[in-house]
Amino acid sequence: MAKLRILKFGDPTLRKIARPVEEITPRIRMLLDDMIETMRDAEGCGLAAPQVGVLRRIVVIEVEPGTVYELINPKIIAFSGEQEESEGCLSNPGRYGITKRPMHVTVRAMNRNGETYDLNGSGLLARAICHECDHLDGKLYTDVQLREVRPKSR
Ligand code: NI
Repeated sequence: MAKLRILKFGDPTLRKIARPVEEITPRIRMLLDDMIETMRDAEGCGLAAPQVGVLRRIVVIEVEPGTVYELINPKIIAFSGEQEESEGCLSNPGRYGITKRPMHVTVRAMNRNGETYDLNGSGLLARAICHECDHLDGKLYTDVQLREVRPKSR
């Protein structure tokens, strides 16, 4: 596994639309492993492939330590409710904004074995799903933030 460099806001790659994965090759599985390592190293709860310079529709999410979701070609198929919470991005370190997101989201995606599954997320997981799927279409949380907030002390 290898730690990858995370692109920062302002990099044009973050504004591009990522292409679907047509075949899950060993290279794609290695990318998933590297993305998970990179996300954990940066103490993030999600990472999208464009953030590491790969324009493919691949996302990893870990909002609860130890539970990693791998989403290949994810598509949000249902959402309901709303929440306003603070949100950050590994590509914009140290900064946070309040965004309005659905409270509940269902996303359909493939795992690394090519199996399609549905993931239901609420609260933080729903926010992470929306945030990471937006990355695949070149959208950043600052595009939808209601206002910036001061960083929380950890
Ligand atoms: Ni992000």
